[in-house]
Amino acid sequence: MNLSITKTANPKPKPDPNNLGFGTLFTDHMLNMDHDPEKGWHNARIEPYSPFSLDPSTMVLHYGQGIFEGLKAYRREDGGVQLFRPEANFARFNRSADLLCIPRIDANQAIEHLKELVRLEKEWVPGAPGTSLYIRPTIIAADPYLGVRVSHHYRYFVILSPVGAYYPQGFNPVRIWVTMNYVRAVRGGLGEAKTMANYAASLYAGQRAHDQGYTQVLWLDGVERRFIEEVGSMNIFFVLGGTLVTPALNGSILPGITRDSVIKLARRWGMPVEERAVSIDEIFDAQAAGKLDECFGTGTAAVISPVGELKYGERAITISGNQVGPMARKFYDAITGIQYGLAKDPFGWITRL
Ligand code: COI
Repeated sequence: MNLSITKTANPKPKPDPNNLGFGTLFTDHMLNMDHDPEKGWHNARIEPYSPFSLDPSTMVLHYGQGIFEGLKAYRREDGGVQLFRPEANFARFNRSADLLCIPRIDANQAIEHLKELVRLEKEWVPGAPGTSLYIRPTIIAADPYLGVRVSHHYRYFVILSPVGAYYPQGFNPVRIWVTMNYVRAVRGGLGEAKTMANYAASLYAGQRAHDQGYTQVLWLDGVERRFIEEVGSMNIFFVLGGTLVTPALNGSILPGITRDSVIKLARRWGMPVEERAVSIDEIFDAQAAGKLDECFGTGTAAVISPVGELKYGERAITISGNQVGPMARKFYDAITGIQYGLAKDPFGWITRL
């Protein structure tokens, strides 16, 4: 499919790379593509970044039939730009599409189009330490219709945002609140899809966590409320007596790409890895027995985020003395080393532009 390119006549000034925050600034151009039942996906185009108008009855606004992804472009020391595991993101995008009854896109073509967009916006990829260009591919149901059914028309779009750290804490320990009362997803539902509904479902508990001074919520399974699932915007890992332990992907957990990268790195280093059910009691017991070495979250936006405190009911535990633990540091250095082109890429994770 041809990709048409219309350039903006009014490029915006580039922001201060040392003061980017997360997700508030957007580049000059975006990618758009439409789907209808006759033509399938068609009319891929790069256009000036702009608001689009939607009929107030557009289905995604009412019933949430939509999916998205998050990946990043990184500035190398030699000035080049590269993407990290885009094939993994677009494979997950299509798995999310299946779950939301959205027609799949051609992943190879989507990556080629994305590369074209990022090439055009190359000057927007920041070079300051810890910064990157966050990429948000999205598909929304576009039929103007108020009945509940699968939409026939869709809009795919990609926007780009120069970003710094996701958490204001940067690469420092965050405090996490384990909720006993609220659940994010259940098996058989949408938990493993990257869809808006999962984030909507996280807001109420997230707000309760913030009210109490916690950064994010740790979700337990929706049935027994015993087994650890994930954090609001991250997967979760524990180092228990030298073994890396993370909840197995059970259908209600997002299959994170940073999660997968951490597991692959650990295995390469010969570190024992267990993907299995982990109960919250096991973690508190391990802490009491002196066996909880570390806890950290993983995500594209958050990268590696050490957890310094877990609060569960009336009990709170401090982990790694509320300091960045050695394994969190090692994974952070290894992953960002590959992402920024400072270290070898033995897995073939990098796509240079
Ligand atoms: C990501 O890590 O890319 C996410 O999508 C998490 C969050 C910003 C929604």
